[in-house]
Amino acid sequence: MSEEQRTLLLRIRRYSPEEGTRRYQEYRLPFNKDKVLLDYLNHINDKLDGSLAFRWSCRMGVCGSCGAMVNGTPKLTCSTFVKDLRSEEVIIEPLENFPVIKDLVVDIRDFVDKLRKVSAWLMVDKERSLEEGEYPQTPGEQAKYSKTSMCINCALCYSACPVYGEDRKFIGPAAIALAYRYNNDSRDTGMVQRLRVLSGMRGLPECSLVEGCTAVCPKGVDPVAAIKKSRIQLDEIRNKGSSTET
Ligand code: FES
Repeated sequence: MSEEQRTLLLRIRRYSPEEGTRRYQEYRLPFNKDKVLLDYLNHINDKLDGSLAFRWSCRMGVCGSCGAMVNGTPKLTCSTFVKDLRSEEVIIEPLENFPVIKDLVVDIRDFVDKLRKVSAWLMVDKERSLEEGEYPQTPGEQAKYSKTSMCINCALCYSACPVYGEDRKFIGPAAIALAYRYNNDSRDTGMVQRLRVLSGMRGLPECSLVEGCTAVCPKGVDPVAAIKKSRIQLDEIRNKGSSTET
């Protein structure tokens, strides 16, 4: 079959909050190997059905807002080329493990709360004045956390996490990875505060190291590695504490 004759069948899960109904809606569109799934969603929204709800912003894998289940796997729709799909039928559903607001739009407030809980930002004991200038850091110091700093808060890892699926109180992969990112930043002073949160039962101990988070991360953050390293840091701090007590 020539490229022009090929089609892509999209089965999109729809949810209407007004009617409380769930259904799959099909759209058959020309196959274009150069297009990503977000292009198809935008085409449907612009030309066929303006009621289809989904999130997106940057179209370049940076804002983290366009996540959805694509044939059962959490993916960024703006980074998923149709030529890379194994079939010419694709099922698009809202991200798993989050309440659905409408169609592909999910409620990520719990995810944002988790980021707040671990203080996923730079904490400094004493802020420098403008006169004192910036907070200097060497390339070597920056390299210690650069991988985890790639996180774009897309929440795909929460959607792939079986532990979070079972227990919404689990602090979750991105929050732990971002806690690791700031804990290992030479400018930061918030490690003890973050590890206090992570050491609780719903923190580091609860992860079962299934690695679903690492497998789906579109930025190669590797939350599982951050979890393992954070456990080591926590043990070191505890051991230091017990050795100074004796
Ligand atoms: S639209 Fe921004 S990451 Fe996909």
